Amino acid sequence: MVSERARRVEISGIRKMFEAAPPNAINLGLGEPDFEPPKVVLDALCAAVQGRMNHYGPSAGLPALREKIAERYRELDSETGRENVIVTGSGSEGLMAVALTLYDPGDEVLVPNPGFVLYPPHAKLCGANPVFYDLIEKKGFQPDFDQLERLVTPKTRAIVVNSPSNPTGAVFPRATVERVISFAEEHDLTIVSDEVYEEMVYEGKFQSFWGRTDRAVIVNSFSKTLAMTGWRIGFLVAPRALAVEINKLHYHLMACPSTPAQAAVLAGLEHGGAETRAMVAEFRVRRGLISRALAKIPGVSLVPPAGAFYTFPKLDWPGTAQEIAGTLLQRGLITTPGDAFGSLGANHLRLSFAASRENLRKGLAILRTVGAELRAS
Ligand SMILES: Cc1ncc(COP(=O)(O)O)c(C=O)c1O
Repeated sequence: MVSERARRVEISGIRKMFEAAPPNAINLGLGEPDFEPPKVVLDALCAAVQGRMNHYGPSAGLPALREKIAERYRELDSETGRENVIVTGSGSEGLMAVALTLYDPGDEVLVPNPGFVLYPPHAKLCGANPVFYDLIEKKGFQPDFDQLERLVTPKTRAIVVNSPSNPTGAVFPRATVERVISFAEEHDLTIVSDEVYEEMVYEGKFQSFWGRTDRAVIVNSFSKTLAMTGWRIGFLVAPRALAVEINKLHYHLMACPSTPAQAAVLAGLEHGGAETRAMVAEFRVRRGLISRALAKIPGVSLVPPAGAFYTFPKLDWPGTAQEIAGTLLQRGLITTPGDAFGSLGANHLRLSFAASRENLRKGLAILRTVGAELRAS
């Protein structure tokens, strides 16, 4: 018999969809860039493994990489040092290490609905209760602070925020970031800010939580910015005393992050940048392409995404998001039903534009045809 803990978590809805996909399907369900890591990073990885960097390293990461990351965050807070930085085995591992460090059984954790799939199960795995706050479509998928005030209780330990957002693509303006901070200060909460899409912003300017408050932990990753989701490498930035505690849990989760991957990422931070900018420029074009096409499909409404690489259209078609996604799948288009991200995603699909322009056009044509058929039926 497996543990109560294992019984309480389910396989992610996204994974289920992939497993049912027919061969040659157009994949707009992807949560990863359709690009390769920068050449300088690939070369540095090869050099690292051939140069005997194949052994354990410090649990918080190689000092040179921690320092390089800290350098960037010093622009937001001049006191930031490598002691604030922990290199993780991905954003996912970072989120779990933070959850294990912060949440006690019985605690409540405010998580977005719709939101990234790991936040609620991570709270549950710690014995805490996820409490869902709405991201209101009519308000451009921004939080409603009146609702947050109603949801907060003496048991609330933290609020998880994610801007740019997976799945909505919404980006917090500065005023929202500041309101989240005053809300957290007033109720003595820690802010867990998932900033893995920080480089992918098409409207306005990305606003990090770092440097504005001493109660934020930043979860970040190289998965998306360096197009290396398979490498499993990311980082956290936290107040120093908290970083010491998180590092203990991080050690017990994975001992240390991959040594050669860290050497390669460091080269990317030192000499890369152009590739990431080119990738984001391409995402910007595709974002225009998919947003314009979706706007023309009857029964589809879209809040155009300001960041990340997802659209989250609402479909006024017969059937649930699961049923519609199932029909699309049979017709050769993989999408993610919105309710995989929470109850408020129920009438939505998540369509990723981390796919070639050609595949976007083909996928949108399938969507248009299926929509017309469903609406006529
Ligand atoms: C919002 C968000 N946070 C964190 C992650 C985790 O990324 P990784 O574990 O690849 O670093 C993802 C991946 O899709 C994500 O969308």
